[in-house]
Amino acid sequence: MPDNHDGQGDVQDGKNFYLDVPQICSVFPLKGSNALDWGMKNRLARVFSPQDGRTVMLAVDHGYFQGPTTGLERIDVIITPLVTFADALMITRGALRSSIPPEMAKPVVLRASGGQSILKELSHERIAVDIEDAVRLNASALAVQVYIGGVHEHESIGNLADMVNAGNRHGIPTMAVTGVGKELARDAKYLGLATRICAELGAHFVKTYYCEANFARVAAGCPVPLVIAGGKKLPEPAALEMAWRAVNEGAAGVDMGRNIFQCEAPLAMIQAVRAVVHGDETPGKAHDLYLSLKSMQERGQYA
Ligand code: R5P
Repeated sequence: MPDNHDGQGDVQDGKNFYLDVPQICSVFPLKGSNALDWGMKNRLARVFSPQDGRTVMLAVDHGYFQGPTTGLERIDVIITPLVTFADALMITRGALRSSIPPEMAKPVVLRASGGQSILKELSHERIAVDIEDAVRLNASALAVQVYIGGVHEHESIGNLADMVNAGNRHGIPTMAVTGVGKELARDAKYLGLATRICAELGAHFVKTYYCEANFARVAAGCPVPLVIAGGKKLPEPAALEMAWRAVNEGAAGVDMGRNIFQCEAPLAMIQAVRAVVHGDETPGKAHDLYLSLKSMQERGQYA
C-alpha cells in the first residue's frame, strides 16, 4: 500500500481499488535506461544497485584470450569465495559452467566475444556465444569487446551491433568493452570517442578505462552508465584511488579483475573496493579497511 494512503478508501465487496491513488509510475534511476523494456531494466537492476545506481563487478574473463592468467589458475578455488562481495560476475561460459556453482545468486555478465589469443592480433574477434546459450545460462548481461581504431574495428563494431540486436530480442542488456590497442593513447579524447560510439550503437552500458585528465568529460559524453576496468595490477592504494576518482567523476562503478584477484588478500580488497563504490569511502579509509581485513585474514579470524 502506498505510504500516503490509509487503506480505508472505497472498499466494496471486499475490494479496494484505491480510487484516490493515481497509478504509480516510477522513473528507472539508471542513466539512459528509462526507455528500456521491463526485462532489460530488471536485469540492469540486478547488476547496478537500485539504491545508488552503482556496481562492483568482478571481471574474471581474462582466460578467453590469455589462458591461465595469474590469479585465475583455479577459478573454483580463488574466485568463488569472492563472489559474495561482488554485485555481478563477468565471466566466460566455459569458466561459469565448469567452475562456478549454479547456486550462486549473483548476476552473470557473460563474455560473448572472442576468437583470438595473446599470440595474435587482439582485435580479431567474433561473437562467440549464441543468444540461446546466454538465455540458458541465465545471463543478466552480455559483454562484447569493441576495438575503436584497431585493425578489426569494423568487425568488432559489427559484433556489438549483432549482440545488441540479439540481446534486445530477449531483454538482455549488452555491455560494450572498449579494447585499446597498445599503439593507442588511453586519453579522454580516445576514450570519449570509443565509449560514445558504443553507446550510439546500442550498448546498454560500457566498460572502459579511467584516465587521469578529463574522465568526467568521457563519462558525461556517454549517455549510458560507464564502469571502469582496473587494468594491470597496481599497489592497492593506487587502485582504490582510481576507483574513487572514477565514481566521483561520473562512473557507475567498476568491473575490476587483476586489481582484486592478484592482490595478496583478494577478499579484503574486494570489500575495500565496495567501500569506495557503494560507501563513498575515501581511498585512504578504504585502504585502512583493506589492511585490517587482510590482517584479520592472516590471523585466521575469517576465511
Ligand atoms: C578485457 O579485455 C576483459 O574484459 C578483461 O578480462 C577485463 O576487462 C580485465 O579487467 P581488469 O583490467 O580489471 O583486470
